[in-house]
Amino acid sequence: MIIEGPDSVTKAVLSEIERAPNPRFREVMTALVKHLHAFIREAKLTEEEFHQGCAIVNAIGQSSNAFHNEAVLMSGSLGVSTLVCLLNNGNNGATETTANLLGPFWRLDSPRTESGDSIIRSPTPGPELFCNILVNDRDGKPIADAEVDVWQSSTEGLYENQDPTQADMNLRGKFTTGKDGRFSFRSIKPAGYPIPIDGPVGDLLKAQGRHNMRPAHLHFLIYKPGYKTHISQVYLPDDPNIETDVQFGVTKRLLGDYVRHENEKPPAPGVKDPWFSLDYTFIMEPGTAKLPRAPIEDKAKTAQMRPKYLAAVDRQPAMAK
Ligand SMILES: [Fe+2]
Repeated sequence: MIIEGPDSVTKAVLSEIERAPNPRFREVMTALVKHLHAFIREAKLTEEEFHQGCAIVNAIGQSSNAFHNEAVLMSGSLGVSTLVCLLNNGNNGATETTANLLGPFWRLDSPRTESGDSIIRSPTPGPELFCNILVNDRDGKPIADAEVDVWQSSTEGLYENQDPTQADMNLRGKFTTGKDGRFSFRSIKPAGYPIPIDGPVGDLLKAQGRHNMRPAHLHFLIYKPGYKTHISQVYLPDDPNIETDVQFGVTKRLLGDYVRHENEKPPAPGVKDPWFSLDYTFIMEPGTAKLPRAPIEDKAKTAQMRPKYLAAVDRQPAMAK
């Protein structure tokens, strides 16, 4: 098609997409082109701004590698990841969901851990945390024999793969729910942490005057054939950044009831005051049990990312609110 003016560019591109044999490809690409062209019209994008945009897209790719995914970080920082999650869970966005973002730190093959045991695998300071978790289906019936991966940061805000002082697989474990759909574990209270800001995401946050902190949370991945794999995070409501998560991950349903205990009989001998407890119930939906691709590999391989993440930690005060 010979282009006659701005309107005919959009028509020309859409008519080419119509030739694609895959119907879902046609649907997605048609919507993408329509909205992309509408965005350019609405924003009255200048040629200079267009070239800046191309440079940002290129920089996102160039700053990504096997252990760091800048595109995922950018998607989170723009609220896209949470929107996709909420539209694809909870009866496709119709009801509340306990699903949430995977994040960049899930590892395959977390150590099998018996219900009630600790996931602290090397000395880790911080108040102790006792979690009692229930996995139900949508009818409120417990789901037995679900495999549940748990992972979290230390009280310094570092995952074990970022921190050579932590043992391999510290604060990670794989549990199996009992007949009652429950399991429990012992850990420490997690801390919030900064996301890396040495790439395009850092530039975005700086331009908006936003900090780069995630509020403290525990991660869960629940796998059971017959159910959609359930990925979640449960947040600490008293975290100073709970309202301003840089990744827009916090939903009301995911505010955990982390109860502080003092001068009470602890659930195990030798536990110092204060200690914390969390009771939480996840709701799985029918669907396909499929594991996501692990964003990182083993600790030795990800150790090379340490300077990058520590740089992010060091630079965090400069980005503080
Ligand atoms: Fe996390």
